[in-house]
Amino acid sequence: MCGIIAYIGKDRVKDVLLDGLEALEYRGYDSAGLYIAGAGPIKAVGPVANLRKKAALMPDGNLGIAHTRWATHGKPSEANAHPHTGRGSIWAVHNGIIENHSELRQKLMGEGRVFASETDSEVVPHLIERAMERGASFEDAVFETVRVLKGAFGLAIAHRDAPDRMVAVRMGSPLVIGVARGGRIIASDAAPVIRHTRDVVYLKDGDVAIVSADSHRIFSFLKEAVSREGETVPFGAEEAKRGGYEHFMLKEIMEGPEVLRNAIRGRIAKDGWRVKLGGLESNDERLRSIERVVIAGCGTSYYAGVVGKYLIESLADIPVEADIASELRYREPILTPKTLLIALSQSGETADTLEAVREAKRKGAFTLGIVNVVGSSIARETDAGIYNHAGPEVSVASTKAFISQTAVLALVALFLGSQRNLGASRRKEVLEELSALPEKMERILANRGLVERIAKRYAESGSMLYIGRKYMMPLAYEGALKLKEVSYIHAEGYGAGELKHGPLALVSESFPVFALAPRDSVYEKTLSNMEEVRARGADVIALVTEGDAEASRIAKETIEIPETIECLYPALAAVPLQLFAYYAAVARGLNVDRPRNLAKSVTVE
Ligand code: AGP
Ligand code: GLU
Repeated sequence: MCGIIAYIGKDRVKDVLLDGLEALEYRGYDSAGLYIAGAGPIKAVGPVANLRKKAALMPDGNLGIAHTRWATHGKPSEANAHPHTGRGSIWAVHNGIIENHSELRQKLMGEGRVFASETDSEVVPHLIERAMERGASFEDAVFETVRVLKGAFGLAIAHRDAPDRMVAVRMGSPLVIGVARGGRIIASDAAPVIRHTRDVVYLKDGDVAIVSADSHRIFSFLKEAVSREGETVPFGAEEAKRGGYEHFMLKEIMEGPEVLRNAIRGRIAKDGWRVKLGGLESNDERLRSIERVVIAGCGTSYYAGVVGKYLIESLADIPVEADIASELRYREPILTPKTLLIALSQSGETADTLEAVREAKRKGAFTLGIVNVVGSSIARETDAGIYNHAGPEVSVASTKAFISQTAVLALVALFLGSQRNLGASRRKEVLEELSALPEKMERILANRGLVERIAKRYAESGSMLYIGRKYMMPLAYEGALKLKEVSYIHAEGYGAGELKHGPLALVSESFPVFALAPRDSVYEKTLSNMEEVRARGADVIALVTEGDAEASRIAKETIEIPETIECLYPALAAVPLQLFAYYAAVARGLNVDRPRNLAKSVTVE
């Protein structure tokens, strides 16, 4: 996601915009730009400091809009940086993804409108200008435009010839209006606002706000007047950067439902229950010839890859291997033109994963990158790609990226399956359930106080064992990794079926076991494993499906998650594991977002 800041009022706008963009830098971005009424646009790739340098000589003004971009459509470049215009009279900055941008762009180009960028966002100023050229007022042209857009769009819009007002639109991407003395600020969140005022009005999805220096009027997309209560921001600037949460890790865990929505946004065609992934559709023939899949990743991304192995084997009936990238690249792997190598990486810069891609390409395999950072090395070097659209992940511990990876891998499995024998009814079942996951995840997050209580209880444990079977085995590994890396408690993940082959010797009263036992096809087996460890005095913390009385008879503590289909439990089961690690680390007073010895992106071997 990016950052939006706009201002109209008595103050000189240039510094308000540049200082505001700096306050939004924590949201992650690759480029930035601003437009000042009467002075025009300035854009720059890289840090806001580059923009500040370029803007030094531009005239100042009293109305302006500005943006830090987190690219989703079109690489990071000056041409793709916001604000965007059509023919110079309307300027707009956009946060989100416009799902129907392709069809709108084709239509506008067919009418002779020329596009200057690769972004989805650029359709917005073109549509507004076109409506005004047909006689609509500035405001009415905005109402007309927002009614045809699909997807997520937070917008701030300025008209070259309307120096006394600007328009804000909220749909799926947050916007707040700051009510300052002698001016109004529009921003993605409170961080850049509170240096001017703590009096704010949070817009809601479907709001259009007409904003002038001393007033703001809010309407629905159908131009019905709407009233929104003013609020006072209760926290300071630092807190505001974390969305009011104490740490980025918690903020990013809480973003899970939105991350799921963005992972599937615009990628499900309900007619025929097809998966729409441009990177795969344009390589349909090559993908039909694939006989084997190898998934490479490191750390959390590798564990997501093991989930992907189960998904693709189950839904597409193709043999899959999940490999730790630092092993794959050295063990002379058998990779051929009939192999699909899927590289999983949040940062898109992990050295071992990048080298695994290069090794696969040297051997003629087809490479697909599932990456969060647009324009990153893995995104650029793979033959095809799918972006997570998860927004920047700041905390070293990867949380929302894992959630996104499991959802995107489900889409890939369905796509490959639909090329083979996967029928529409099974595709429908999985896609409908995938669409229902965000709301189910919100229920888990609403109950995070229980996880916090349990985590505090076990925060001083010396060691923990995580066990799970089938889809829950990689989750056991991932849960153990989360706990290790943020709380420094030693933890191991194990396939539950392996207990008798050694790890059971570790189990005693002082060795709590986290058992992942949702109602899946191996539930009864996992229940027996819980009995095994319970019989040896261990405390069992059981992650179970809502309403499971059986497991709670054995477990010391139970954490419930809503029911879903077996292959989609990973996305839901991951959340309590992430929360448990987070609260244990907080209880131990550790630097949760920056754990010792670790870096966010391991760009060295
Ligand atoms: C996850 O919590 C860790 N920070 C780490 O294992 C991470 O997943 C790994 O370094 C891979 O990073 P990537 O997804 O950016 O490639
Ligand atoms: N989708 C738009 C783009 O790629 C906006 C991305 C953002 O929210 O920064 O330019």
